Amino acid sequence: MLDLRLSLVLIALLGPSQGLPSCSSSTIASAPLPSATSTADTNTAAKAAGKLYFGTATNAGQFVNDTAYAETLSDNKLFGAITPANALKWESTEPSRNNFTFTEADQIASLAKGNGQLLRGHNCVWHEQLASWVSSGNFDNATLTSILQNHCSTVVGRYKGEMNMTFKHHPVDSWDVVNEPFNDDGTQRSFVFTDTIGPSYIDIALESARAADPSTKLYINDFNIEGFNAKSTAMFDLVQDLKARGIPIDGIGVQAHLIVGQIPGDIQENLERFASLGVEVAITELDIRMTLPVTAELLEQQKADYQSVVSACDAVEACIGVTIWDFDDKYSWVPGTFPGEGAALPWDENLVRKPAYDGIIAGFSY
Ligand code: G3I
Repeated sequence: MLDLRLSLVLIALLGPSQGLPSCSSSTIASAPLPSATSTADTNTAAKAAGKLYFGTATNAGQFVNDTAYAETLSDNKLFGAITPANALKWESTEPSRNNFTFTEADQIASLAKGNGQLLRGHNCVWHEQLASWVSSGNFDNATLTSILQNHCSTVVGRYKGEMNMTFKHHPVDSWDVVNEPFNDDGTQRSFVFTDTIGPSYIDIALESARAADPSTKLYINDFNIEGFNAKSTAMFDLVQDLKARGIPIDGIGVQAHLIVGQIPGDIQENLERFASLGVEVAITELDIRMTLPVTAELLEQQKADYQSVVSACDAVEACIGVTIWDFDDKYSWVPGTFPGEGAALPWDENLVRKPAYDGIIAGFSY
């Protein structure tokens, strides 16, 4: 009786799994998790489907220190485009005023060039990873305008023609000139550039980028704009307005940081809506995270989810490519930002292809 009372108290205090002995999951033999079976290559499949590339984001520290990772990254049958995940952001490229550093970005550009891979620039202006001298400098409108012009023209101009002209397409294929300008309700995000210059900071950034490299495609890039909602409508309205006013804009980047089992059902229609403005579109930062632990069921759902995003791009002619936000779970940004979630990428942390890989291949119809 005393034992039972003690157990009930323990259950109340600690929860059922700790109050009484139970059959822990580690004592149950679990079936091995499924992996991919396709022998096709992702970039080859994307090109066969008429797209320009299947790409990935990366950081130089990863491919310099991890040979197995570097080999996969450098396989241009798998990846036809590379986006520096962090190296081209303001805090990295202009950490103090007019002091530009491109060490890591150059490493990535030269890796891409050596592999015959396109480069996507990311980004000129964003509220995060912005150098603190910019956000805390109390600059007036005219000074901040010239700081923005100088920054965008220097970073975009740096890679102009850098990669020789053996590519059919311009080697620095596109630039996310403006990143994440909107709140989820469709209003423009408040940060130093909107607060000091107003929404025309977007015009200034785009015009500086165009002047610095007339051949690269200029994008505005954001998350939570995959399906129809207030934010994607704000993006549509902004790009329509830019085009009406003759401000250079070539593409809309749809990041696609998504959750397993929660993929919007209207991605294709929304990409078509964007394309109706006369711009190209791209899936720029795809990953599909799950609540851990990984199970066979979650991996199957993730495969279906990757397939539906890729097939939405596949079905829209103006959707030129799909980039995943790094390719293996070892280097994903997700667990650091969403504790308890992860396994968002098509390769696991040991570089084994997950069912999601098959979903990507199936999404490219060719
Ligand atoms: O550079 C410092 C290093 O000095 C320090 O020792 C280390 C300790 O944490 O942090 C390093 O900075 C990290 C930085 O990445 C560079 O690796 C930051 O902590 C970390 O927060 C930062 O995360 C990046 C994140 O943007 C910032 O918001 C991710 O790697 C990057 O993948 C992610 O990418 C963004 C896109 O640019 C825009 N869309 C969303 C996407 C995911 O957040």
